[in-house]
Amino acid sequence: MKKTFDIAIIGGGVIGMSLARALAARGAELALFDASVSVPPATNAAAGMLAPSFEHGHGGDCVSEALYHFGAHSLSLWPNYAAALEEETGQFIDFRGDGALGLAYTEAHANELGEQASRVAARGGDASIISGDDARAMEPALSKEILCALWAPNDAQVDPKRLLIALRAAVEKKAVQLFPEKVARIDVEDNGPRCTTFSGEAFSARKIVVAGGAVSGLVDAGLVFPVKGDATAIEIEEGFLTRVVRAPGAYLCPKAGGRLVIGASEEYGRDGDAVDAKAIETLQANAAIAAPQLKGSKELERWTGLRPGTPDAAPILGQTDTGVYLALGHYRNGVLHAPASAQEMTALILDGEASEYLESFNPSRFGKDKALQHG
Ligand code: GLY
Repeated sequence: MKKTFDIAIIGGGVIGMSLARALAARGAELALFDASVSVPPATNAAAGMLAPSFEHGHGGDCVSEALYHFGAHSLSLWPNYAAALEEETGQFIDFRGDGALGLAYTEAHANELGEQASRVAARGGDASIISGDDARAMEPALSKEILCALWAPNDAQVDPKRLLIALRAAVEKKAVQLFPEKVARIDVEDNGPRCTTFSGEAFSARKIVVAGGAVSGLVDAGLVFPVKGDATAIEIEEGFLTRVVRAPGAYLCPKAGGRLVIGASEEYGRDGDAVDAKAIETLQANAAIAAPQLKGSKELERWTGLRPGTPDAAPILGQTDTGVYLALGHYRNGVLHAPASAQEMTALILDGEASEYLESFNPSRFGKDKALQHG
Protein backbone atom coordinates (compact mmCIF):
# COMPACT_ATOMS: atom_id res chain seq x y z
CA MET A 1 0.00 0.00 0.00
CA LYS A 2 1.26 3.45 -0.93
CA LYS A 3 1.84 5.51 2.21
CA THR A 4 3.44 8.75 1.06
CA PHE A 5 1.56 11.52 -0.71
CA ASP A 6 1.93 15.18 -1.65
CA ILE A 7 -1.21 16.05 0.25
CA ALA A 8 -3.46 14.12 2.61
CA ILE A 9 -7.00 15.41 3.17
CA ILE A 10 -8.86 14.19 6.23
CA GLY A 11 -12.60 14.38 5.62
CA GLY A 12 -14.61 13.28 2.61
CA GLY A 13 -17.62 15.55 2.93
CA VAL A 14 -18.51 18.30 0.54
CA ILE A 15 -15.57 20.47 1.62
CA GLY A 16 -12.92 17.73 1.61
CA MET A 17 -14.02 16.36 -1.75
CA SER A 18 -14.31 19.79 -3.41
CA LEU A 19 -10.82 20.57 -2.24
CA ALA A 20 -9.50 17.18 -3.39
CA ARG A 21 -11.02 17.76 -6.83
CA ALA A 22 -9.45 21.23 -7.11
CA LEU A 23 -6.01 20.11 -5.89
CA ALA A 24 -6.02 17.05 -8.15
CA ALA A 25 -6.87 19.28 -11.12
CA ARG A 26 -3.58 21.06 -10.40
CA GLY A 27 -1.71 17.74 -10.46
CA ALA A 28 -1.28 17.10 -6.74
CA GLU A 29 -0.96 13.47 -5.65
CA LEU A 30 -3.62 13.00 -3.01
CA ALA A 31 -4.88 10.71 -0.29
CA LEU A 32 -8.40 11.30 1.06
CA PHE A 33 -9.45 9.78 4.36
CA ASP A 34 -13.19 9.47 4.92
CA ALA A 35 -14.77 7.56 7.77
CA SER A 36 -18.29 8.86 7.36
CA VAL A 37 -19.89 5.43 7.68
CA SER A 38 -20.54 5.76 11.40
CA VAL A 39 -20.93 9.53 11.68
CA PRO A 40 -23.70 11.43 9.87
CA PRO A 41 -21.89 13.85 7.58
CA ALA A 42 -22.62 17.54 7.83
CA THR A 43 -24.10 17.46 4.35
CA ASN A 44 -26.87 15.29 5.77
CA ALA A 45 -28.14 18.26 7.76
CA ALA A 46 -28.18 20.40 4.65
CA ALA A 47 -30.99 21.01 2.21
CA GLY A 48 -28.55 22.51 -0.27
CA MET A 49 -29.65 26.13 0.07
CA LEU A 50 -27.10 28.52 -1.43
CA ALA A 51 -28.35 31.45 0.55
CA PRO A 52 -25.95 34.24 1.48
CA SER A 53 -28.92 36.62 1.79
CA PHE A 54 -30.20 34.61 4.73
CA GLU A 55 -27.14 32.84 6.13
CA HIS A 56 -24.66 35.48 7.21
CA GLY A 57 -24.98 35.56 10.95
CA HIS A 58 -27.30 37.90 12.71
CA GLY A 59 -25.26 40.92 13.50
CA GLY A 60 -23.63 43.82 11.75
CA ASP A 61 -20.19 42.75 12.93
CA CYS A 62 -17.06 42.06 10.83
CA VAL A 63 -17.48 38.30 10.80
CA SER A 64 -21.06 38.64 9.59
CA GLU A 65 -19.85 41.04 6.89
CA ALA A 66 -17.04 38.67 5.84
CA LEU A 67 -19.41 35.72 5.90
CA TYR A 68 -21.86 37.53 3.62
CA HIS A 69 -19.17 38.47 1.09
CA PHE A 70 -17.58 35.02 1.11
CA GLY A 71 -21.01 33.42 0.64
CA ALA A 72 -21.91 35.83 -2.18
CA HIS A 73 -18.56 35.19 -3.84
CA SER A 74 -19.01 31.42 -3.59
CA LEU A 75 -22.58 31.73 -4.91
CA SER A 76 -21.18 33.53 -7.98
CA LEU A 77 -18.94 30.50 -8.63
CA TRP A 78 -21.80 28.02 -8.32
CA PRO A 79 -23.31 28.08 -11.84
CA ASN A 80 -19.98 27.18 -13.49
CA TYR A 81 -19.03 24.82 -10.69
CA ALA A 82 -22.31 22.91 -11.08
CA ALA A 83 -22.07 22.78 -14.88
CA ALA A 84 -18.45 21.59 -14.81
CA LEU A 85 -19.15 18.94 -12.19
CA GLU A 86 -22.14 17.60 -14.12
CA GLU A 87 -20.19 17.53 -17.34
CA GLU A 88 -17.20 15.85 -15.72
CA THR A 89 -19.21 13.11 -14.01
CA GLY A 90 -22.47 12.78 -15.97
CA GLN A 91 -24.30 13.20 -12.62
CA PHE A 92 -27.26 15.58 -12.36
CA ILE A 93 -27.02 17.69 -9.17
CA ASP A 94 -30.24 19.73 -9.53
CA PHE A 95 -28.71 23.20 -9.27
CA ARG A 96 -31.44 25.89 -9.39
CA GLY A 97 -30.57 29.55 -9.55
CA ASP A 98 -34.10 30.80 -9.11
CA GLY A 99 -34.02 32.76 -5.87
CA ALA A 100 -35.48 32.34 -2.40
CA LEU A 101 -38.45 33.76 -0.52
CA GLY A 102 -38.43 34.43 3.23
CA LEU A 103 -41.94 34.65 4.69
CA ALA A 104 -43.44 36.87 7.38
CA TYR A 105 -46.81 36.19 9.05
CA THR A 106 -46.64 38.98 11.65
CA GLU A 107 -45.47 42.59 11.93
CA ALA A 108 -42.55 41.40 14.06
CA HIS A 109 -41.42 38.93 11.34
CA ALA A 110 -41.91 41.64 8.74
CA ASN A 111 -39.66 44.03 10.69
CA GLU A 112 -36.96 41.38 10.98
CA LEU A 113 -37.10 40.71 7.25
CA GLY A 114 -36.98 44.45 6.54
CA GLU A 115 -33.79 44.77 8.61
CA GLN A 116 -32.34 41.77 6.84
CA ALA A 117 -33.13 43.19 3.40
CA SER A 118 -31.48 46.51 4.35
CA ARG A 119 -28.39 44.70 5.62
CA VAL A 120 -28.05 42.69 2.40
CA ALA A 121 -28.60 45.80 0.26
CA ALA A 122 -26.00 47.74 2.28
CA ARG A 123 -23.54 44.97 1.49
CA GLY A 124 -24.20 45.25 -2.22
CA GLY A 125 -26.61 42.31 -2.53
CA ASP A 126 -30.07 42.13 -4.01
CA ALA A 127 -32.92 41.65 -1.53
CA SER A 128 -36.26 43.42 -1.33
CA ILE A 129 -39.53 43.19 0.55
CA ILE A 130 -42.53 42.19 -1.55
CA SER A 131 -46.19 41.88 -0.58
CA GLY A 132 -47.87 38.60 0.37
CA ASP A 133 -49.85 38.78 -2.88
CA ASP A 134 -46.65 39.12 -4.91
CA ALA A 135 -45.13 36.16 -3.07
CA ARG A 136 -48.25 34.09 -3.82
CA ALA A 137 -48.10 35.15 -7.46
CA MET A 138 -44.64 33.57 -7.57
CA GLU A 139 -45.61 30.52 -5.50
CA PRO A 140 -49.40 29.98 -5.60
CA ALA A 141 -49.24 27.19 -3.00
CA LEU A 142 -48.28 29.65 -0.26
CA SER A 143 -50.69 30.56 2.53
CA LYS A 144 -52.99 33.59 2.42
CA GLU A 145 -51.73 34.42 5.93
CA ILE A 146 -48.43 35.69 4.53
CA LEU A 147 -48.07 39.39 5.22
CA CYS A 148 -44.96 40.01 3.13
CA ALA A 149 -41.78 38.28 2.02
CA LEU A 150 -38.11 38.92 1.54
CA TRP A 151 -37.26 38.19 -2.09
CA ALA A 152 -33.63 37.28 -2.75
CA PRO A 153 -33.47 36.69 -6.52
CA ASN A 154 -29.84 35.54 -6.59
CA ASP A 155 -30.03 32.87 -3.91
CA ALA A 156 -30.03 29.35 -5.29
CA GLN A 157 -30.06 25.68 -4.30
CA VAL A 158 -28.64 22.30 -5.21
CA ASP A 159 -29.43 18.75 -4.08
CA PRO A 160 -26.76 17.92 -1.47
CA LYS A 161 -27.20 14.16 -1.73
CA ARG A 162 -26.73 14.29 -5.51
CA LEU A 163 -23.81 16.69 -5.00
CA LEU A 164 -21.98 14.21 -2.76
CA ILE A 165 -22.44 11.44 -5.33
CA ALA A 166 -21.09 13.68 -8.11
CA LEU A 167 -18.13 14.86 -6.05
CA ARG A 168 -17.28 11.30 -5.14
CA ALA A 169 -17.37 10.34 -8.84
CA ALA A 170 -15.18 13.35 -9.71
CA VAL A 171 -12.65 12.49 -7.04
CA GLU A 172 -12.52 8.83 -8.11
CA LYS A 173 -12.01 9.88 -11.74
CA LYS A 174 -9.08 11.98 -10.72
CA ALA A 175 -7.37 8.97 -9.17
CA VAL A 176 -7.32 10.43 -5.68
CA GLN A 177 -6.50 7.54 -3.38
CA LEU A 178 -9.46 7.03 -1.03
CA PHE A 179 -9.05 5.47 2.39
CA PRO A 180 -12.33 4.57 4.16
CA GLU A 181 -10.77 5.08 7.55
CA LYS A 182 -10.92 7.45 10.48
CA VAL A 183 -7.73 9.28 11.35
CA ALA A 184 -6.83 9.01 15.01
CA ARG A 185 -3.97 11.47 15.21
CA ILE A 186 -1.69 13.81 13.36
CA ASP A 187 1.97 14.21 14.30
CA VAL A 188 4.18 16.95 12.99
CA GLU A 189 7.80 15.85 12.94
CA ASP A 190 11.00 17.40 11.59
CA ASN A 191 10.65 15.50 8.33
CA GLY A 192 7.00 16.56 7.84
CA PRO A 193 3.52 15.71 9.05
CA ARG A 194 2.12 12.21 9.46
CA CYS A 195 -1.37 10.93 10.13
CA THR A 196 -2.21 7.63 11.77
CA THR A 197 -5.53 5.85 11.36
CA PHE A 198 -7.42 4.01 14.10
CA SER A 199 -6.29 0.78 12.47
CA GLY A 200 -2.71 1.85 13.22
CA GLU A 201 -1.52 2.62 9.67
CA ALA A 202 0.71 5.71 9.39
CA PHE A 203 0.81 7.89 6.27
CA SER A 204 3.11 10.77 5.53
CA ALA A 205 2.40 13.75 3.34
CA ARG A 206 4.18 16.99 2.56
CA LYS A 207 0.97 18.74 3.58
CA ILE A 208 -2.02 17.64 5.63
CA VAL A 209 -5.45 19.28 5.47
CA VAL A 210 -8.11 18.62 8.10
CA ALA A 211 -11.54 19.00 6.47
CA GLY A 212 -13.36 16.79 8.95
CA GLY A 213 -16.81 17.35 10.36
CA ALA A 214 -18.16 18.20 13.78
CA VAL A 215 -16.83 15.18 15.63
CA SER A 216 -13.50 14.40 13.95
CA GLY A 217 -11.76 14.46 17.34
CA LEU A 218 -8.80 16.20 15.69
CA VAL A 219 -9.78 19.79 16.45
CA ASP A 220 -10.25 21.57 19.77
CA ALA A 221 -13.85 20.86 20.80
CA GLY A 222 -14.31 24.53 21.75
CA LEU A 223 -13.60 25.56 18.16
CA VAL A 224 -15.65 23.03 16.21
CA PHE A 225 -18.66 21.39 17.82
CA PRO A 226 -21.77 19.57 16.59
CA VAL A 227 -25.03 21.37 15.94
CA LYS A 228 -27.49 18.58 15.30
CA GLY A 229 -30.11 19.08 12.62
CA ASP A 230 -33.09 16.84 11.90
CA ALA A 231 -34.78 17.09 8.51
CA THR A 232 -37.41 15.33 6.47
CA ALA A 233 -38.58 14.93 2.88
CA ILE A 234 -42.20 14.64 1.80
CA GLU A 235 -43.82 13.85 -1.51
CA ILE A 236 -45.16 16.73 -3.63
CA GLU A 237 -46.43 17.12 -7.15
CA GLU A 238 -43.60 18.31 -9.37
CA GLY A 239 -43.99 22.12 -9.59
CA PHE A 240 -46.05 22.48 -6.38
CA LEU A 241 -43.29 24.81 -5.20
CA THR A 242 -40.54 25.90 -7.55
CA ARG A 243 -38.02 27.69 -5.34
CA VAL A 244 -36.67 27.79 -1.79
CA VAL A 245 -39.17 29.11 0.75
CA ARG A 246 -37.92 30.05 4.20
CA ALA A 247 -40.85 30.14 6.58
CA PRO A 248 -40.76 30.76 10.34
CA GLY A 249 -39.69 27.43 11.86
CA ALA A 250 -38.98 25.53 8.62
CA TYR A 251 -37.43 25.92 5.21
CA LEU A 252 -38.93 24.19 2.19
CA CYS A 253 -36.69 23.13 -0.69
CA PRO A 254 -38.29 21.48 -3.72
CA LYS A 255 -36.07 18.93 -5.44
CA ALA A 256 -36.34 16.94 -8.65
CA GLY A 257 -38.59 13.91 -8.60
CA GLY A 258 -41.43 15.36 -6.48
CA ARG A 259 -39.43 15.57 -3.27
CA LEU A 260 -39.73 18.48 -0.84
CA VAL A 261 -36.93 18.72 1.73
CA ILE A 262 -38.02 20.40 4.96
CA GLY A 263 -35.37 21.43 7.45
CA ALA A 264 -34.00 21.67 9.92
CA SER A 265 -33.83 21.70 13.71
CA GLU A 266 -30.80 23.10 15.52
CA GLU A 267 -29.47 21.61 18.72
CA TYR A 268 -26.16 22.97 19.91
CA GLY A 269 -23.63 20.52 21.28
CA ARG A 270 -25.79 17.47 20.48
CA ASP A 271 -24.40 14.64 18.39
CA GLY A 272 -25.57 11.14 17.55
CA ASP A 273 -27.73 9.93 14.70
CA ALA A 274 -31.13 9.54 16.42
CA VAL A 275 -33.86 11.49 14.65
CA ASP A 276 -36.08 13.41 17.06
CA ALA A 277 -39.71 12.60 16.14
CA LYS A 278 -40.98 15.77 17.83
CA ALA A 279 -38.61 17.93 15.78
CA ILE A 280 -39.84 16.31 12.56
CA GLU A 281 -43.47 16.81 13.58
CA THR A 282 -42.77 20.51 14.25
CA LEU A 283 -41.00 20.98 10.91
CA GLN A 284 -43.86 19.34 9.02
CA ALA A 285 -46.44 21.43 10.90
CA ASN A 286 -44.54 24.66 10.19
CA ALA A 287 -44.23 23.73 6.52
CA ALA A 288 -48.00 23.17 6.36
CA ILE A 289 -48.60 26.64 7.84
CA ALA A 290 -46.57 28.08 4.94
CA ALA A 291 -48.26 25.92 2.28
CA PRO A 292 -51.49 24.48 3.74
CA GLN A 293 -51.96 21.80 1.07
CA LEU A 294 -48.88 20.06 2.46
CA LYS A 295 -50.87 18.90 5.49
CA GLY A 296 -51.04 15.10 5.46
CA SER A 297 -48.46 14.69 2.65
CA LYS A 298 -46.66 11.38 2.49
CA GLU A 299 -43.34 11.37 4.28
CA LEU A 300 -40.54 9.93 2.15
CA GLU A 301 -37.65 10.12 4.54
CA ARG A 302 -36.35 11.59 7.78
CA TRP A 303 -32.74 11.92 8.85
CA THR A 304 -30.29 13.75 11.05
CA GLY A 305 -26.98 15.43 10.40
CA LEU A 306 -24.31 17.21 12.38
CA ARG A 307 -23.35 20.70 11.34
CA PRO A 308 -19.81 21.68 12.32
CA GLY A 309 -20.48 24.79 14.42
CA THR A 310 -17.84 27.36 15.37
CA PRO A 311 -17.94 30.10 18.04
CA ASP A 312 -18.67 32.85 15.49
CA ALA A 313 -20.61 30.74 12.96
CA ALA A 314 -17.92 31.31 10.31
CA PRO A 315 -15.62 28.70 8.80
CA ILE A 316 -12.02 28.07 9.79
CA LEU A 317 -9.76 28.26 6.75
CA GLY A 318 -6.00 28.51 7.00
CA GLN A 319 -2.94 27.02 8.64
CA THR A 320 -2.17 26.30 12.27
CA ASP A 321 1.13 27.31 13.80
CA THR A 322 2.40 23.77 13.21
CA GLY A 323 1.75 24.03 9.48
CA VAL A 324 -1.29 21.76 9.26
CA TYR A 325 -4.07 23.23 7.10
CA LEU A 326 -7.67 23.51 8.29
CA ALA A 327 -10.72 23.75 6.02
CA LEU A 328 -13.63 23.12 8.35
CA GLY A 329 -16.35 24.51 10.59
CA HIS A 330 -18.65 25.64 7.77
CA TYR A 331 -21.64 25.27 10.11
CA ARG A 332 -24.81 25.97 8.02
CA ASN A 333 -22.96 26.86 4.83
CA GLY A 334 -20.74 23.99 3.72
CA VAL A 335 -22.58 23.47 0.46
CA LEU A 336 -22.65 27.19 -0.35
CA HIS A 337 -18.98 27.65 0.54
CA ALA A 338 -17.62 24.53 -1.17
CA PRO A 339 -16.50 26.17 -4.46
CA ALA A 340 -14.86 29.20 -2.82
CA SER A 341 -13.29 27.18 0.02
CA ALA A 342 -11.76 24.81 -2.53
CA GLN A 343 -10.48 27.70 -4.63
CA GLU A 344 -9.05 29.69 -1.72
CA MET A 345 -7.49 26.70 0.02
CA THR A 346 -5.93 25.46 -3.24
CA ALA A 347 -4.27 28.86 -3.71
CA LEU A 348 -3.01 28.78 -0.13
CA ILE A 349 -1.78 25.18 -0.20
CA LEU A 350 -0.17 25.14 -3.64
CA ASP A 351 0.83 28.79 -4.17
CA GLY A 352 1.12 30.13 -0.62
CA GLU A 353 -1.43 32.83 -1.46
CA ALA A 354 -3.84 33.94 1.26
CA SER A 355 -6.67 36.14 0.06
CA GLU A 356 -8.55 38.60 2.25
CA TYR A 357 -11.22 35.94 2.77
CA LEU A 358 -8.66 33.73 4.40
CA GLU A 359 -7.54 36.60 6.65
CA SER A 360 -11.08 36.76 8.04
CA PHE A 361 -11.40 33.04 8.63
CA ASN A 362 -7.89 32.25 9.90
CA PRO A 363 -7.81 29.87 12.91
CA SER A 364 -5.71 32.41 14.82
CA ARG A 365 -8.80 34.67 15.23
CA PHE A 366 -9.80 32.55 18.21
CA GLY A 367 -6.54 33.41 19.93
CA LYS A 368 -5.58 29.78 20.36
CA ASP A 369 -2.16 28.59 19.30
CA LYS A 370 -3.27 25.04 19.05
CA ALA A 371 -6.52 24.69 17.18
CA LEU A 372 -5.44 21.21 16.33
CA GLN A 373 -5.18 18.42 18.84
CA HIS A 374 -2.11 16.62 17.66
CA GLY A 375 1.23 15.43 18.91
N1 GLY B 1 -28.01 25.11 5.67
C1 GLY B 1 -29.17 25.03 6.42
C2 GLY B 1 -29.04 24.27 7.65
O1 GLY B 1 -27.93 24.00 8.10
O2 GLY B 1 -30.04 23.94 8.26
